[in-house]
Amino acid sequence: MATSSLVTIFSFLFLVSSNLAADPDMLQDICVADLNAGVRVNGFACKPAANVTEADFFFQGLAKPGAATNTTMGSLVTAANVEKIPGLNTLGVSMSRVDYAPGGLNPPHTHPRATEIVFVLEGTLDVGFITTANKLIAKTITKGDVFVFPRGLVHFQKNNADVPAAALAAFNSQLPGTQSLAATLFAATPSVPDHVLTKAFQIGTKEVEKIKSRLQPKK
Ligand SMILES: *[C@@H]1O[C@H](CO)[C@@H](O)[C@H](O)[C@H]1NC(C)=O
Ligand SMILES: *[C@@H]1O[C@H](CO)[C@@H](O)[C@H](O)[C@H]1NC(C)=O
Repeated sequence: MATSSLVTIFSFLFLVSSNLAADPDMLQDICVADLNAGVRVNGFACKPAANVTEADFFFQGLAKPGAATNTTMGSLVTAANVEKIPGLNTLGVSMSRVDYAPGGLNPPHTHPRATEIVFVLEGTLDVGFITTANKLIAKTITKGDVFVFPRGLVHFQKNNADVPAAALAAFNSQLPGTQSLAATLFAATPSVPDHVLTKAFQIGTKEVEKIKSRLQPKK
């Protein structure tokens, strides 16, 4: 085989594998995000080293339970990502805390940029993810247990107990991103056309409109 075609193949494989990789490797010790920089890069621009302080690497927002009771789904996610901790920029990790009211659901969603590993702080959760072969992998997990949701796969957690629950989640991305399926399809702006949803879900316009009205973000 000619060297040039080998080079082409290896360049292609490199491109494919770098597209499949999670956050890119860092090229310097720190690159604390300048969240207000006008410059857009793959991540955030670094602020001047002289401006970096310990506050850039610190966050207390996960210490207390979030108020999950009054949310539509009875769950509340508090993120500890690069938007809250600028020092996470380029480091490829982040966390979140999820609080669940009794009966609370963290509805089916995906993280396009990260695998998630959860640790149950309190209570019991029915958790699961669905593979691209449409197999449900589900389990009931309780305080102290760990469960993994592979990158990009649809997953959920439900608190079926009559007491609150809480979990900590870790991600291999500074900003995993979240697409919540119901909201993505029924509460997008502008809205996904009814005829797309009636056909996709094999239901009528009335049902689509009903779901859309229930999922509208509270004003
Ligand atoms: C860095 O600090 C200087 C001096 O306090 C300030 O003028 C400047 O706006 C800061 N820049 C950023 C990106 O934080
Ligand atoms: C939920 O809403 C009720 C009524 O608005 C309020 O009294 C209560 O404090 C709220 N609970 C939480 C946990 O925010």
